[in-house]
Amino acid sequence: MPLPKHVRIVEVGPRDGLQNEKQLIDIDTKVALIDCLANAGFTHIEAGSFVNSKWVPQMADSAAVFQKINRRAGVSYAALTPNIKGFERAIKANATEVAIFASASESFSQKNINCSIAESLERFKPIMQAAKAQNVLVRGYVSCVVGCPYEGDIPATKVAEVANALYKMGCYEISLGDTIGVGTPIAVNTMINTVAESIPIEKIAVHFHDTYGQAIANSYAALQLGVSVIDSSIAGLGGCPYAEGASGNVATEDVLYLLKGLNIDTGINLSAAIAAGNFISQYLGRCNSAKVARAITKAV
Ligand code: HMG
Ligand code: MG
Repeated sequence: MPLPKHVRIVEVGPRDGLQNEKQLIDIDTKVALIDCLANAGFTHIEAGSFVNSKWVPQMADSAAVFQKINRRAGVSYAALTPNIKGFERAIKANATEVAIFASASESFSQKNINCSIAESLERFKPIMQAAKAQNVLVRGYVSCVVGCPYEGDIPATKVAEVANALYKMGCYEISLGDTIGVGTPIAVNTMINTVAESIPIEKIAVHFHDTYGQAIANSYAALQLGVSVIDSSIAGLGGCPYAEGASGNVATEDVLYLLKGLNIDTGINLSAAIAAGNFISQYLGRCNSAKVARAITKAV
């Protein structure tokens, strides 16, 4: 399979990244980060989530963040929504699109959203109905696509089953999440090939966390199968509140550098992306976790 000519980056830093930060991040800083990303050429930015703030306090102000963004034409500002209550809050805040999230692991489903996989799929039905009626695009996530912090290895057939259920429900794209970053290229290859038996490859996105340092290798493995949508997080922000020890998503700056080297277009300005990553890293009082950002910032 030839490598794709264009890759769409779904920037999840403002949601997946920041949701895991313990220190309070003020609304204006979140908005400034999102605006910097839009100005750098990102067209898909997951800007927040509408979940129970008791469980994820950092996202409690998502409505205010969505209200204050300086919206750029052609940019989709997405929100994570676990149930119809979350969907209604997201639409009220003018989210462009929403994302629902299921898991391929029963234990992770219980810990993350307090219900079984089957129950979660039932909860998503009213979201899909409301979204259809209001012409809102819905993206679907599957978590723990290679391994689970509670159950260990997860069979690819289980991932395919959940992915297919979300796709049949009407999700326009299915993002496959290696939540704890345990995957390596062969496992990822097998998993994607199994999912691609029932879902077209152009509808599959990958979402790699970098806990074991494999996310760039896994991204390349996915590209070789024809996957052309990659989720990543600026400055490698993040982790998962329900997967202890999980590190952030693959760093956007590192993915952009990989793609540039492969001559794959993204429409994103790498220098502007690095500036956005450096901005939020400085605010958080730490070094940018993206290796490419560190190398280039030092070089100039
Ligand atoms: P629950 O306790 O089962 O829900 O939580 P409930 O319906 O019984 O309601 C309990 C309380 O929550 C009620 O409030 C509801 O109003 C409230 P009370 O009456 O006690 O005051 N509530 C809500 N409040 C605000 N917004 C809502 C909402 N829904 C109910 N939407 C629920 C179920 C899913 C809500 C809860 O478990 C939750 O919020 N979990 C957080 C999940 C989360 O955000 N996880 C992190 C994101 S997923 C992720 O990072 C993985 C991903 O990146 C992919 C990957 O890496 O694999 C996507
Ligand atoms: Mg994630």
